[in-house]
Amino acid sequence: MNEKKEQLKKELKEAISQITEMHSLNELKVEYLGKKGKITELSSNLKEMSLDAKKEFGKILNELKEEATSLVEEKRKEIEERLLNKKLESEKIDITLPSKKVRRGSKHPMTRMIEQFEDLFVSMGYTVYEGPEIESDENCFQKLNLPKGHPARDAQDTFYLENEYENFLLRTQTSTAQVRAMEENHEKGPIRIICPGKVYRRDEDATHSHQFMQVEGLVIDENVSMADLKGTLELFCKTILGEKTEVRFRPSFFPFTEPSVEVDVTCFKCGGKGCSLCKQTGWIEVLGAGMVHPNVLTMCGYDPKKYQGFAFGTGIDRFAMFEYGIPDIRTIYGNDIRFLKQFDRKEEQNEVK
Ligand code: PHE
Repeated sequence: MNEKKEQLKKELKEAISQITEMHSLNELKVEYLGKKGKITELSSNLKEMSLDAKKEFGKILNELKEEATSLVEEKRKEIEERLLNKKLESEKIDITLPSKKVRRGSKHPMTRMIEQFEDLFVSMGYTVYEGPEIESDENCFQKLNLPKGHPARDAQDTFYLENEYENFLLRTQTSTAQVRAMEENHEKGPIRIICPGKVYRRDEDATHSHQFMQVEGLVIDENVSMADLKGTLELFCKTILGEKTEVRFRPSFFPFTEPSVEVDVTCFKCGGKGCSLCKQTGWIEVLGAGMVHPNVLTMCGYDPKKYQGFAFGTGIDRFAMFEYGIPDIRTIYGNDIRFLKQFDRKEEQNEVK
């Protein structure tokens, strides 16, 4: 047996020394140590042996197995090391080559505008509240005093969901957040929020996009009056558009506010003299607002005898168009890098060199 062992070992050693590839090593391992391998098969001789012979034979066989395994493993390591070195060599990086320039993006004009609004209102004690864009008919219309079939719905046609979601639509106004905030306030106490977000309507031309952004404001408290609404909106317009801006309130109609107003400001381009932007009137309409309708308060669980509130809403896109002189609203949503790049601010132009 010892002779046989030495012979097999020699044979294996020789075969291994010829091997350079991992797959041939695996094949060789099977040939010797596999289930039907040359070494494994030797154990079939055990059956006919006496106990003593078995012991002797078994010992030698185990030694052979161990020695063969370590020969194979040694070779495996050798191949692995060679492969690794080859890989390292091929992936060598030349650190002396110049690097690619990385350009950091800049804030979108709408993000800038929203941040201006939020900064102002947060400084006045408001919190920012965001509602979902997919809304129920109840929240978008019914609880805002626009029952099914109300003619004022026509001005806000939108995108409707189908089948089991047919009661849902893409909200046409951030006023839906009024309803949500009032309903979610279980104590039915004071509220002071602004709600920026995307809204949708069936519109499409240079100044209207099927998707645009509004910001809604809502204040609910005891003893809130039209004077609070006027003061707040005057401050808002002057802060965002400049101290010299004059603000005018015109009676208007919204189903969810009573009384309702529309707010005009002196034209930012001509200062009120009259130009093409303000269509020679000297004024530009920027906000809709009013005192929250008692029906809305009641539907949202508030007692209109105890609480009053005011709400206002405006298009963020319009402000951005004025602020940055953007003539076509569609460019705001076009994602054209050439357009967006123009809003890089010096302090944000971090070109990493
Ligand atoms: N939601 C109204 C609109 O989209 C604006 C508005 C908001 C008016 C709040 C009054 C109060 O036209």
